[in-house]
Amino acid sequence: MIKFGLVGCGRISDNHFKAIENIDSCQITCCCDIDLDKAKEKAEKYGIKAVYNDYRQMLGNENLDAVIVCTPSGIHPEIGIFAAEKMLHVITEKPMAIDLESADALIQSCDKNNVKLFVVKQNRLNTTMQLLKKAVEKNRFGKIYLVQSNVFWQRPQSYYDQAKWRGTWEFDGGAFMNQASHYVDALYWLIGPVDYVMAETATMSRKIETEDTGSAILKFRNGVIGTINVTLLTYPKNYEGSITILGEKGTVKIGGIAVNKIEKWEFEDYDDDDRIVTETNYQPPNVYGFGHIPYYINVVDTLKGKSSADIDGRDGRKSLEIIRAVYLSAKEGKKIALPLK
Ligand SMILES: NC(=O)c1ccc[n+]([C@@H]2O[C@H](COP(=O)([O-])OP(=O)(O)OC[C@H]3O[C@@H](n4cnc5c(N)ncnc54)[C@H](O)[C@@H]3O)[C@@H](O)[C@H]2O)c1
Repeated sequence: MIKFGLVGCGRISDNHFKAIENIDSCQITCCCDIDLDKAKEKAEKYGIKAVYNDYRQMLGNENLDAVIVCTPSGIHPEIGIFAAEKMLHVITEKPMAIDLESADALIQSCDKNNVKLFVVKQNRLNTTMQLLKKAVEKNRFGKIYLVQSNVFWQRPQSYYDQAKWRGTWEFDGGAFMNQASHYVDALYWLIGPVDYVMAETATMSRKIETEDTGSAILKFRNGVIGTINVTLLTYPKNYEGSITILGEKGTVKIGGIAVNKIEKWEFEDYDDDDRIVTETNYQPPNVYGFGHIPYYINVVDTLKGKSSADIDGRDGRKSLEIIRAVYLSAKEGKKIALPLK
């Protein structure tokens, strides 16, 4: 039985508790939140025996294999490094960090202590995204010309006012770092390494430090031109989370509110995958989708030595680097080449 301790019992933690309930041979045995009432509430809901308000105490006292980090993004590395030094494997919510220095420190600490690092990017595991990835890998598009991702969502001021860390540079980042990070990751995962980035960002309506809106052009090393458009001001509610690929021999748009619906699927050449397009669509309960369960199946298989991490620290760092380049480009008003120094 693999034993996890979870730190940060807020909104996303439910996806972790529920996913692990669904998988044999692993369990969450303790949880922690600086707000002890939140930890107690989840403990009661999911039948967890031990609760803490200090992760250091929890990781010191409990007999665990791994820690799950669901706190505000800016403190993922601090908790991950503490756990790695206690020889625990680390599963961190996205983004793994909000700057490259602390992401690198976390990766190096996990390497040094010979523990695994997993970054949660569950959208890659959506049935729709898996089908699209297969089409790219089978070269069904021929030459890919253009990719576009739109994240047209709504986050009212009350969302930011719920917790002090939201919309801050120190703990969260803005629309690109938080809400659109899965979409930046998807473009990298589908198309490949980025050569340079040009971007504009703005704080147009919400009372926050970071951006609520922005657009970026990504020039990929293989020549593909990509654009990503993000706003959290969409009237009146979440409208679209999409990825469109336009190629020589194919056009696909995966849309819906969170890449859950294949809106266009057309290729010059037939493939058996074309028959399962309609049944691949699904209705997610929210924009987080259902990907945490398959994500944890890979985590458990990897910890048992039967597989390797689908998305490890180095993979998780790629989209972080692109997002940092977006911020640098918007700030300096110029093209930013990758890799960043
Ligand atoms: N994979 C996804 O699709 C997805 C979706 C939502 C959020 N997230 C990520 O999950 C993380 C948490 O987001 P959320 O929406 O659940 O936030 P939240 O504010 O609802 O929850 C964060 C919790 O962490 C607790 N916390 C803060 N500092 C702590 C500390 N030092 N020790 C223990 N607990 C601490 C807070 O009290 C709070 O309960 C963020 O990094 C976010 O980007 C990922």
